[in-house]
Amino acid sequence: MNLEKGYLEKKIDPSLDLFKEISHLKKTKNAIILAHYYQDADIQDIADYIGDSLGLAQQAEKSTADIILFAGVHFMAETAKILNPKTKVLLPDLKAGCSLADSCPADAFSAFKASHPDHIVLTYINCTADIKALSDVIVTSTNAVQIVESFPKDQKIIFAPDKNLGAYINKITGRNMVLWNGSCMVHEIFSLEKLIKLKIQNPKAKIIAHPECEAPLLEHADFIGSTTALLNYTKKPENGDEFIVVTETGILHQMQKSSPTKIFIPAPPNNNCACNDCPYMKLNTLEKIYIALKYEQPELLMDEYLIKKAKLPILKMLELSAKFGL
Ligand code: 13P
Ligand code: SF4
Repeated sequence: MNLEKGYLEKKIDPSLDLFKEISHLKKTKNAIILAHYYQDADIQDIADYIGDSLGLAQQAEKSTADIILFAGVHFMAETAKILNPKTKVLLPDLKAGCSLADSCPADAFSAFKASHPDHIVLTYINCTADIKALSDVIVTSTNAVQIVESFPKDQKIIFAPDKNLGAYINKITGRNMVLWNGSCMVHEIFSLEKLIKLKIQNPKAKIIAHPECEAPLLEHADFIGSTTALLNYTKKPENGDEFIVVTETGILHQMQKSSPTKIFIPAPPNNNCACNDCPYMKLNTLEKIYIALKYEQPELLMDEYLIKKAKLPILKMLELSAKFGL
């Protein structure tokens, strides 16, 4: 099936009610849509579950659907396939990658790991299955601090691929994990200068930030957490009514939905582009989701041996998360 540029324009009848068509396809095919908070509002609204990386992995593991359509990026769909290999996993656009995952190629990481023989490897879920297969435990921004703290203080640890999240965990836990030099292009684009100006203009607003941001920005944050933690923070009356949100803009949809009278201001990037939108997440569209469900393509296929190897550190994470009540 040809999914190249121009295909959708030619094949989709513009008068189709895509919400209705997608709902119908979900029912007839016993399919579910798992969507990350960074998806467009329309996609979040047709999803069966919206969540952060941990929540999405947990949902994928327990899903009994015949098809999981993953409205997110490649590493998330891979994680779903690893946890539920018998289920058909669809990713509406296979080009939906991740700059953070790209910043950690398997051969270079393998050499890095070999040069630190007495270290265990804790890896942020935003990485390829090849990197997961080289890891001891996977973490997400929801559980990273607790998982790191579950190891003895003198345990030597490599943390990959996000140097910003790694540095944040080192600061919180007092550890000295060796950090891989990777980062997320979206979370590194925020302008500290503009953030400070915005705070001066909105003195009552709380600055809430994702730990993938650089340390100087995090220093100005009233609260730091995963997308789910940020969303939950904004729901609590004691945390106020105005927020400057330092993460990808997609999360604002759920924040505004849960707290319609509160004010949410997206933190500005360091230029005039919309670079605080993740270009990979935003490759997914309702049209591509409709096509994917209709033709059951593009399907995410993985090597069985890789699934087996990459699954162990993810299961370890799920086990620890359950123990911590996450
Ligand atoms: P969480 O939703 O797990 O906080 O991760 C954010 C992110 O960058 C996903 O790509
Ligand atoms: Fe990757 Fe950053 Fe996009 Fe998340 S926001 S998918 S970490 S590039």
